[in-house]
Amino acid sequence: MSNVYESQHPLIAHKLTKLRDVATEPKKFRELVRELGGLLCYEATQDLGVQPLAVKTPMGEAEGVELTDRIGLVPILRAGLGMVEGIWELMPNAEVWHIGLYRDEKTLRPVEYYNKLPVSPTVEVCLVLDPMLATGGSAAATVDILKKWGVKRIKFVGLLGAPEGIQLMQERHPDVPIHLAKIDSHLNEIGYIVPGLGDAGDRQFGTG
Ligand code: PRP
Ligand code: URA
Repeated sequence: MSNVYESQHPLIAHKLTKLRDVATEPKKFRELVRELGGLLCYEATQDLGVQPLAVKTPMGEAEGVELTDRIGLVPILRAGLGMVEGIWELMPNAEVWHIGLYRDEKTLRPVEYYNKLPVSPTVEVCLVLDPMLATGGSAAATVDILKKWGVKRIKFVGLLGAPEGIQLMQERHPDVPIHLAKIDSHLNEIGYIVPGLGDAGDRQFGTG
């Protein structure tokens, strides 16, 4: 699958295992989502643009670089919110643009309820954040919104993906790389990822 990156990092695999565990309570769950968000973002941003920058060290001058791309983090509410802090620790200047979508329980189709994007894009690269890529409907709808906004480079960063969601994203947005901690087996009859981790929003916010 071109453009789909499944992490091979043992630290990510270790933290994901704890995250999946039904015994993991919301406080620990939130901590793991935050940490995994940062680690996955690190893996997903290897191709960010840089320009040369020379700095004075106590010993002389060093040739270095600074990032040139303005970066937008786009958490899909609610569950994507938990990934933001871990990424902000690495990229404190990233802008955060929230998109509110929920999945209709019967149709499994995304329903938009929050979008305050300004008229013109303010960033060059957007990282769409959502722990779960299930049917792919929410991710694909968010990318639709961002492309309409005018963003040229978009990446999806998630924790778990189902083959069904990956396929939908590749059909609708083949130009958008997908970065995941793990690709799981399948969706069950009510659209949940198996073995998955249950409801990512409920487990973070204690609402299950
Ligand atoms: C979950 C999840 C994704 C979506 C994935 O959100 O966080 O946004 O479902 O499913 P899909 O790939 O089939 O679209 P949910 O609708 O439960 O909302 P919540 O985050 O507010 O709980
Ligand atoms: N949303 C979740 O939170 N979990 C799933 O398994 C699928 C969609």
